[in-house]
Amino acid sequence: MTKKNLKPKIIVVSDARQLAKAGADLFEKAVADAVKDRGRAAAALSGGSTPRAMNRLLAGPPYVDRIPWKGLHLFWVDDRMVAVDDPASNFGAARDDFISRVPIPAQQVHPMPVLDAPICGAERYALELKNYFGSKAPVFDLILLGIGSDGHTASLFPHQAEAHQGPEWVLSARGGNPDVYRLTLNYPVLNRARTTAFLVSGRGKAEMVRTLLCGDEVRYPPQRIRPEGGRLVWLLDRPAATLLPEDMCSMGE
Ligand code: 6PG
Repeated sequence: MTKKNLKPKIIVVSDARQLAKAGADLFEKAVADAVKDRGRAAAALSGGSTPRAMNRLLAGPPYVDRIPWKGLHLFWVDDRMVAVDDPASNFGAARDDFISRVPIPAQQVHPMPVLDAPICGAERYALELKNYFGSKAPVFDLILLGIGSDGHTASLFPHQAEAHQGPEWVLSARGGNPDVYRLTLNYPVLNRARTTAFLVSGRGKAEMVRTLLCGDEVRYPPQRIRPEGGRLVWLLDRPAATLLPEDMCSMGE
């Protein structure tokens, strides 16, 4: 019997600082529970600016001491096909913000092959996932996502919906800001995590948040993120949640 899609849990916190803390707490719990229950954890990170404050928290107490880094494997939801030291690199930002400052074994950090040709890079990362998860579709313990005000998530852009319909675990895409080639996980992977969390900050996202969470029709990629049997959480700061009905949200700190 297929497991039902659970309704998303919507948690609103006061500001970007509290959002970073809520994200770090969620990251710590998902990773610690996975290592305790299954001996290891696999998390996939998104890029952009929103997760950076959370990532920096992970490199300091209490998180740096409490997270079982030796049991964690880090993957990426998407990345731009640029050099690691390019300011647009999601891996480069995560490396600078926390990976270079926590005791995670280097071989457990799995950046996307962004210097390959796009199609080859997508195939190569799918192989990397197969090496870790085996041939069944990957089940991450945690997938962290953001949204753009245009309604994209990962590097799944609304106007490219046709390209997302296949069984591929990893796709290449062109678009976004910066408008470059990217590699991105696709729905067959994004819809199987044990915990999937959107982290959204700022008044500039409020209209899209309302459309995604209150709209009747499915028009945007984040609305197609409905993890089978997994937990779906929306972590919002108050400015991003300002257009949502009060009774829709539980208030965090
Ligand atoms: C990317 C991200 C992307 C991001 C949103 C939000 O590589 O661009 O993974 O999906 O989550 O664009 O970005 P901000 O946090 O910068 O608004």
